[in-house]
Amino acid sequence: MSDSDSYPNLLTRLWRYLALFVKRPTEVATLVPSSRFLTRKLSEDPGFKHARHVVELGPGDGSTTRALLAAMQPEARLLAIELVAELVDVLQTIDDKRCIVEHADANELHALMRRHDMQQADVIVSGIPFSNLAPEQAAQIIDAIYRALTPGGVFVAYQFRDQINGLAERRFGDPEICFVPWNIPPVSIYRWTKATVPVAELVKSFDESPAIGETPKPIESLDDFRCGGVVT
Ligand SMILES: C[S@@+](CC[C@H](N)C(=O)[O-])C[C@H]1O[C@@H](n2cnc3c(N)ncnc32)[C@H](O)[C@@H]1O
Repeated sequence: MSDSDSYPNLLTRLWRYLALFVKRPTEVATLVPSSRFLTRKLSEDPGFKHARHVVELGPGDGSTTRALLAAMQPEARLLAIELVAELVDVLQTIDDKRCIVEHADANELHALMRRHDMQQADVIVSGIPFSNLAPEQAAQIIDAIYRALTPGGVFVAYQFRDQINGLAERRFGDPEICFVPWNIPPVSIYRWTKATVPVAELVKSFDESPAIGETPKPIESLDDFRCGGVVT
């Protein structure tokens, strides 16, 4: 049986989402699988061109996962982490040896990456509904994502509400935002690139820099010339 034969039709998928939404509304957060407009937009991210390690958080029944796999290089790998067992069963029907499926919570990201010999991720895509999570849990997952990404790596989150922006900008700075109206409900894609110098350090060095009109502190050592690890 080919992969596409094993992927159930839209009616079956809608029925499954409806049943799961009734059981676990805060986690599943949708009645309808992602539209092809959304999956196409996600898969067009330039980050996939050179990515070796991709992580997907909250892949649901896998329509996003399949689109990401189609955009990835043959030697790349994708780790899909899904909380709901019934959806994990569906994800396991994806017939692609680059895809690893784990039944787990997104905050176990680091342990799972270690288990699968992924040191750092080049791209992390998330569909988990951050607006439904407790603030501490959401902040914990954002921190885990930040630490898991390689410098220059990309974090992409598709969300129905905008809470994630306030949570993630503290770590990542401002996102690029793309609105996708052709999805039920309409959705925004937020995209951050992990800076090579952490945002917190940039803010700290800005806070510590002399105010306009103030005399700069005298240079005491060669370290004062250091800029991004390069002696200038
Ligand atoms: C909006 S749905 C994703 C839709 C899916 N990508 C699709 O293409 O149809 C959100 C998914 O995140 C999962 N989820 C929610 N909280 C999670 C968590 N803490 N860890 C992992 N998955 C989670 C839900 O079970 C659900 O499958």
